[in-house]
Amino acid sequence: MGTKLSVNINKFATLRNSRGGNNPDVVKAAIDAQRFGADGITVHPRPDERHIRYNDVREIKKIIVTEFNIEGNPREQKFIDLVLEVKPQQVTLVPDALGQLTSDHGWNTLEHKDYLRKIITVFKNAGIRVSIFVDPDPQMIEGAYHTGTDRIEIYTEEYAHKFTTDKETAIKPYKSAAEKATELGLGINAGHDLDMNNLKYLKHQIPYIDEVSIGHALICDALYLGFENAIQLYKRQLM
Ligand code: PXP
Repeated sequence: MGTKLSVNINKFATLRNSRGGNNPDVVKAAIDAQRFGADGITVHPRPDERHIRYNDVREIKKIIVTEFNIEGNPREQKFIDLVLEVKPQQVTLVPDALGQLTSDHGWNTLEHKDYLRKIITVFKNAGIRVSIFVDPDPQMIEGAYHTGTDRIEIYTEEYAHKFTTDKETAIKPYKSAAEKATELGLGINAGHDLDMNNLKYLKHQIPYIDEVSIGHALICDALYLGFENAIQLYKRQLM
């Protein structure tokens, strides 16, 4: 069963923005990631455009030959408009706060059910697959089902954190969450803090994950190994 690797290229934009100019070129990074074997490209434009800018997303869309996944909080009309204009294969809705360093929790799908239902319908009517970021909590998965989402992206930070001391305990809630999602007919993505150490075990324990979205660790590894090698090594963990 194939699990796709979507490479998050936000860090290329962070590096570019630190100096002005266009080095490294994020469009080239997307072209190369695809050439090196990535099954998809993920970007997470934030309202302050501190890494990927809205216009980068438009430019990247022009060269995408794999899957394009745009992440973000639909709180901003600007984000909704961008996604509807660019029409990626997938939008991943994340409840991150303004200025937040990185995503650190999933949706409360019970509390925000009506809101999510409404916004998910907007994207689905435009032919865009929707995934929502959730913690590995069966109640939240059940709630996700009632929002009408196509997939969930399970937030894997806690798995990654606990993996180093006790991987059997670390994976348990994720296996239950994935089983629950499958029972309900939801597709399963996973992401956050996945790396060369913990990815293979996750894939081995939950082989039917549709897609993992990986940024930080893969780009850090690419500094030492090269971008092509890093992508190939991560792909190998998913075999
Ligand atoms: N999934 C979501 C929803 C994210 O916000 C991020 C970080 O932008 C990732 C996955 C990737 O996490 P990491 O950079 O730790 O691989």
